[in-house]
Amino acid sequence: MAYVQIDDVRLAYDDVGSGPELLLVHGYPFNRSLWVEQRDALSKAFRVITPDLRGFGESDISGGESTMNRMAQDVVRLMDALEISSAIVGGLSMGGYVVLAFYKQFASRVRGLVLADTRAQADTEEAKQVRTQQAEQILTSGMASITDATLPKLLTPETVSKRPEVVKRIRDMMLKTKPAGAAAALMGMAAREDQTALLPRISVPTLILVGRDDPITPLQDSEKMHDTIAGSRLVVIENASHVSNIEQSAVFNAALSSFLHVVS
Ligand code: MLT
Repeated sequence: MAYVQIDDVRLAYDDVGSGPELLLVHGYPFNRSLWVEQRDALSKAFRVITPDLRGFGESDISGGESTMNRMAQDVVRLMDALEISSAIVGGLSMGGYVVLAFYKQFASRVRGLVLADTRAQADTEEAKQVRTQQAEQILTSGMASITDATLPKLLTPETVSKRPEVVKRIRDMMLKTKPAGAAAALMGMAAREDQTALLPRISVPTLILVGRDDPITPLQDSEKMHDTIAGSRLVVIENASHVSNIEQSAVFNAALSSFLHVVS
């Protein structure tokens, strides 16, 4: 693990392997360890960079909202610090929101996109209210107050009942997240812009992955992105919910690896 200083924030990241660069952005409320299976499998042929977004993992918390644009700017500053001119950039869920914001601002730094269990639309008014309430709850009562209610949306019932090690890993990641960092990201997600109009302008190879049973960013959202991003590839992962990269890591990695070999 290493750090890069971005103004007042120290950002933690892993940078493993060599070859074409793949930068993966984690979702909420996780950290870079979300990508361990992908990092380990793909770093044999690629340079895999996995940051902790501001307020998550071992990165510092900043003041104010962690907007998608701000986190996208952190990613470009990290690439600058590592002297990476362009990369294949991917994200899961909130990581995908960050990646779309990144593409909008820094398209020339992107050789390919990976959009996993994510969507292009902004929050509805109702969803914004839920985020605000959840941010208040986390700040008052801590991450434990949302963990048990959130877990069944992240994993399939089968994973919840038969894979206690996966449940523990996700739970631990959530519990380790600092409430202030999570709250800042919730407000950032609530404020994020709709990126639907960006989709037809995406001109790099794009892989879209989604767990068939994902209730947070459902299959229809991925189908909409697939219909609109020219030449994109859609892979639906069976027996997986929202954290499809962990629940079905072998299938996820095979799809990602075959995409990466075509793109690079
Ligand atoms: C995530 O996994 O990053 C979040 O569930 C995304 C969201 O709440 O919209």
